[in-house]
Amino acid sequence: MDEAVNPPTEMSGQSCTNRTCRAVWESLVKKHEARQRQLQVEILSRREENEAMVAENLRQNEALRELNTELDGKVQERTCELLASKEALQAQNRKMAELGDAKEALMHMVVHDMKNPLTAVMGTLGLCRGNRVSLPPEIKELLVGAHVQSVKLLCMVDEILTISRMQSKEFEVHPEPMDMIGLVQQSMSMMSLTTGGKKISFRFEPALTDLWVSGDYPTIERTLNNLLNNAIKYAPADSEIWLEVSRQEGAGRIGVTNWGDPIPRDSQDKIFDQFYRVKADIAKYAGTGLGLTFCRLAIQAHGGTIGVESPVLPRENGACFFFTLPLAAKPDLDSPAR
Ligand SMILES: Nc1ncnc2c1ncn2[C@@H]1O[C@H](COP(=O)(O)OP(=O)(O)OP(=O)(O)O)[C@@H](O)[C@H]1O
Ligand SMILES: [Mg+2]
Repeated sequence: MDEAVNPPTEMSGQSCTNRTCRAVWESLVKKHEARQRQLQVEILSRREENEAMVAENLRQNEALRELNTELDGKVQERTCELLASKEALQAQNRKMAELGDAKEALMHMVVHDMKNPLTAVMGTLGLCRGNRVSLPPEIKELLVGAHVQSVKLLCMVDEILTISRMQSKEFEVHPEPMDMIGLVQQSMSMMSLTTGGKKISFRFEPALTDLWVSGDYPTIERTLNNLLNNAIKYAPADSEIWLEVSRQEGAGRIGVTNWGDPIPRDSQDKIFDQFYRVKADIAKYAGTGLGLTFCRLAIQAHGGTIGVESPVLPRENGACFFFTLPLAAKPDLDSPAR
């Protein structure tokens, strides 16, 4: 009979307890064995899962290795191609540079060779327009015009040769301490004599008595004269030209401002290039587009900066051309060495 249904009597208490214990024990053993079997099954299935995962990992590693090898091959192939095209480009660049140099040399030679015949023509025209040759006045008048034009042509040839020399690697400047205030005063008084019939007044009110910079005087003087020449040329007939000298961090700056139509924004960088002229000015003013190229090369050779601001604020017109040069110590003007 079932123990749970029929609990043991008091008489046979001892044997009942033993049986109960054994039954409990057996049941525990059975449970334990069942649990062990279940665990073994679980361990087996986990092991299979692990083995499958290891196999999958191995397969993926193998696939990755193959991909890597393939990629390495492609990278090497592409690197070789890129190296080959880099070398081809370098060779092309060298060739272009050689051609550019040859073109420059040829142009220099042609322009240089123009100088002698031109000087001869100019000399002859000068002689014929003079008093030593008697010619009808109307012919003399024509000769005067031709002589003036030949002088201009010779100046242009000189300008082209100078620029070509400045662009070559051999060009050097010999900077020495020079005073910007003195330079502006001198150029201003000289250029005020050549306003070409325009009623131009110059305004220069320096706040400093002198400002010493490092520059090759003839080159810098020519640069400032070019800027003043432009200011006069492109200014309205009855107007002012402002000049300023200021001290900046490590540099001295000269600015030349004239009024008139502002320079279009998209031309402001290009006007420093050889032969470039603003479209609207080509028909109105004579010029070759070389003046500002000279200025740029001259200032760059000194390690300075050059630029233009146009329009000039707060007005809505005009142009201010400026350049800077490195500051220099004021020389001892009383020194016997000078
Ligand atoms: N002060 C200025 N105001 C307005 N426009 C200017 C001024 N200076 C230069 N420009 C513009 O820049 C262009 C280039 O000037 P650049 O001095 O190089 O040549 P150019 O004056 O035409 O001829 P040249 O070689 O005889 O000096 C000019 O044609 C003009 O359009
Ligand atoms: Mg000019």
